[in-house]
Amino acid sequence: MLSCVCVLLLAASALSLLDEAALDAQWEEWKSTHSREYNGLDEEWIRRTIWQKNARMIEAHNMEAALGMHSYELAMNHLGDMTSEEVVEKMTGLQIPLNSVRNFSMTLDHKVSKLPKFVDYRKKGMVTPVKDQGSCGSCWAFSSAGALEGQLAKTTGQLTDLSPQNLVDCVKENDGCGGGYMTNAFKYVQENGGIDSEAAYPYVGQDEQCRYNSTGMAAQCKGYQEVPEGDEHALAVALFKVGPVSVGIDATQTTFQFYHRGVYYDSNCNKDDINHAVLAVGYGVNTKGKKYWIVKNSWSESWGNKGYILMARNRGNLCGIANLASYPIM
Ligand SMILES: *[C@@H]1O[C@H](CO)[C@@H](O)[C@H](O)[C@H]1NC(C)=O
Ligand SMILES: *[C@@H]1O[C@H](CO)[C@@H](O)[C@H](O)[C@H]1NC(C)=O
Repeated sequence: MLSCVCVLLLAASALSLLDEAALDAQWEEWKSTHSREYNGLDEEWIRRTIWQKNARMIEAHNMEAALGMHSYELAMNHLGDMTSEEVVEKMTGLQIPLNSVRNFSMTLDHKVSKLPKFVDYRKKGMVTPVKDQGSCGSCWAFSSAGALEGQLAKTTGQLTDLSPQNLVDCVKENDGCGGGYMTNAFKYVQENGGIDSEAAYPYVGQDEQCRYNSTGMAAQCKGYQEVPEGDEHALAVALFKVGPVSVGIDATQTTFQFYHRGVYYDSNCNKDDINHAVLAVGYGVNTKGKKYWIVKNSWSESWGNKGYILMARNRGNLCGIANLASYPIM
């Protein structure tokens, strides 16, 4: 009996030693892949602890996914040494204006009974490459620029990167890297007479003086339209009839931070706490009958599925995706 326990204990400690060695190797590899350097051992120890907690969570989730308990998988990525709170603080930035009066009177006819099963504007040349907002709360600027890029491509046939930095620096009603709201950006473009191209006004990822120059202007808009709050059908109609739509979501879940593939669904996602702006570029349904929105993020191609996430559609307005949806009118 005793020897049996001893053998078991030995085996367990050998396992955890192996585990530790493997983790050490993985940590070194992760640091070198993502060119991380830390200020001394204390900081490295803190970062390593966070990374390890994330790595274990990802592994556990994927084991459950393999047993059919989740419709999506996670993967370690460049955000591995950050907590979800830090990600939200540094890399989101959607601020809903106080006392804003929202206008949901739609010019679109909602009663579209036959929507196509699949809409994907990436296949129609209406979506530019995935960007990286960096440590700046400019998600709202990338979301707005993306919706404008879609309408520009639709009306002119030209796919052009527009300038989120132009919006970060010049939209007075917003707070640049401190956060902002998409309809303020559309209103700025309308009143300013245009938005510069990314080439004319490149992204720097920090607040700077407004340097808009009409010489570099690449798109204009006549206003914007808001999608009725919480109405996923209206969002699908807007996507089908108009093009890519700016949306707000709750991005605070660790599962969102490490999403890799499949149809994302986390019951902890809070539709009443929207903090991140992204761009809906289509919708569809997978072979298992799971419906999804196709969402473009601005956390680089290293995040998610080459920068994208499929989010559950018609599952109780997951993460509030239909709560703050809007698009520009070109
Ligand atoms: C609300 O939006 C509709 C449709 O875009 C527009 O005709 C109307 O003037 C707007 N109302 C206000 C108060 O802005
Ligand atoms: C705008 O850009 C043009 C062409 O590059 C340049 O000649 C002009 O001085 C710029 N205007 C301002 C206000 O910077």
